[in-house]
Amino acid sequence: MCGIFGCVLKQGKAAPLIHAALKRLEYRGYDSVGEITIYDGKLHMKKDQGKIDEVHKIHDLDDLPGSIGFGHTRWATHGAPLQINAHPHIDCKGEIAVIHNGIIENFAELKKELEKNGHNFKSKTDTEIIPHLIEEIWDKNPSLNLIEAVHQAVKRLDGSYAIAVFSTKEPDKIICARNESPLIIGVGEDGIYFASDIPAFLPLTNKAVIIENGELVIISEKGYEIRKIADFKLVTREPKIIDWNPEMAKKEGYPHFMLKEIYEQPERLRDSLRLQEHYLDLLATFLDRGTEIFLVAAGTSYHACLAASYIFSKLAFLTSYPIIASEFISQQGKSIGINSTILVVSQSGETSDTLAAVEYARQKAATILALTNVINSTLTRISRVYIDQLSGPEIGVAATKTFTSQVSILTQLAIRLAKKRGKVSQDEMDLLAEKIEDIPNAVEKIINTKAEKVKQIAKKYKDSKTFFFLGRGISTATAYEGRLKLMEIAYIPSIAFPAGESKHGPISLVEPGFPVVFVCPMDGTHKTIIGNIMEMKARGASIITIIEEGDEEIKQLADDYIEVPKGFPEVLSPIPFIIPLQLLAYYIAVERNLDPDKPRNLAKSVTVK
Ligand code: F6R
Repeated sequence: MCGIFGCVLKQGKAAPLIHAALKRLEYRGYDSVGEITIYDGKLHMKKDQGKIDEVHKIHDLDDLPGSIGFGHTRWATHGAPLQINAHPHIDCKGEIAVIHNGIIENFAELKKELEKNGHNFKSKTDTEIIPHLIEEIWDKNPSLNLIEAVHQAVKRLDGSYAIAVFSTKEPDKIICARNESPLIIGVGEDGIYFASDIPAFLPLTNKAVIIENGELVIISEKGYEIRKIADFKLVTREPKIIDWNPEMAKKEGYPHFMLKEIYEQPERLRDSLRLQEHYLDLLATFLDRGTEIFLVAAGTSYHACLAASYIFSKLAFLTSYPIIASEFISQQGKSIGINSTILVVSQSGETSDTLAAVEYARQKAATILALTNVINSTLTRISRVYIDQLSGPEIGVAATKTFTSQVSILTQLAIRLAKKRGKVSQDEMDLLAEKIEDIPNAVEKIINTKAEKVKQIAKKYKDSKTFFFLGRGISTATAYEGRLKLMEIAYIPSIAFPAGESKHGPISLVEPGFPVVFVCPMDGTHKTIIGNIMEMKARGASIITIIEEGDEEIKQLADDYIEVPKGFPEVLSPIPFIIPLQLLAYYIAVERNLDPDKPRNLAKSVTVK
């Protein structure tokens, strides 16, 4: 997830506006930054690795000439956060510049083709193929104009993108295009702006035009013109007036970052499906070779590992041991050696307990594999192979979007592994591949249709003293995660355990009105969990269930229920089923007048043991 901003001004310097707007976008990415303008027939560019303030100190980002330009703040996906990989990227002749937010899936093929035709690449990014592709198209057809060349180029791109392009050959305009990454136009008195989100240009104008997927926009001093990429047909869309205050603007109109990040999940899950195949394959190969596999993490990332241990077993017939990072050395230390493979999961890549476990295992010659959200974190530097979870920066202290992305990626890893080990039939594989593609839409549907109902349930239970969260099988992981969310932001002491354990102790706490949340996908655990619901009901518990649409049997038993779309294979269930629980925790915290973004005593990244 990166941030883009640009402008065509009627007069004055673009650079200070770009710099200020990038600061407002910094939450979208902050490992490198770049700006570019056109002046006097030439490109003028500054870019470097580091946070905006650090780069500004060295390069003075306000000091570029010209009234047309754009900038980019980066969150690395392809290529480490180095100056060479920072955007903008330019073509061989230094005439065409591009910034990009998203992931070009077919960049490897395009790069090969362009290299064969003599193009010289400087970076490891997917983005750099775009200026070279436009250059190639334009060189072959010099009668084209910039718009036509860009139009032909974007037709060849697969994946997600919000891009901006300009050229010294037609220095009065910027062409933007969008597929799945956000792009908004700001229409001001002094010029036209574009950005990844509204807050970037809100101090300049409150008139916004949302660009939709498959659209291209031509921005010039005169205004904006939207066209469909498919057939180049003109689209008429008037600006909307945005009435956010500055605090709302930072959160794109959401009252809290946590809610914004919950709502971001469909987009982030789509990104999680755009992994680079060769990294997934490499990780799957290492896991396949491993004699003993440990999944090591803390907090929410541990819950993703717990889910993964079920998924690896169910799909790939692979036994793996999920271990809480702070326990790893004492629990498993002595037995770790050259034959051990440790898959480490950490959103931040900086959690102290997790890094201590990795360091220990490294010393014992174990193979370290990692899944993280922060490229260039300590974890990426000390692991043998890592994969980027592509969630973008998470600001809310409670992990939400990073959990669902982790589960999505670990499931894709399990599918690769199953293929390698020949454990799953082609039909099953095809079904899984189809269903995993559907997950972002299902999550979108839950968020859009169930939030109001969850809010009502939150009002009803907000004063409860304790909750149980129960599931069986893979839903145990979902229950643990739902409980952690509620506990950490609403300060309600809650207990989660596999539902089968009730009778071995915890049920003694239950008395009339005691809220018990059951996670109930229609998988192999469905029948048995009904028995667990009955035993809680018999003791007067208030039953709240997360069920699949049309699960009449459990609906009849529940005091309150939230339905999620039906028909997802068991291994995918943690993703849709956790969404209502994230919302429940959020709304209960809000009902209790707590700030979900800043739970007391907690930090986003735990760098002490
Ligand atoms: C809970 C939460 C924490 C983190 C944990 C591990 O909402 O955010 O429990 O999951 O501190 O952090 P990472 O994944 O950065 O290692």
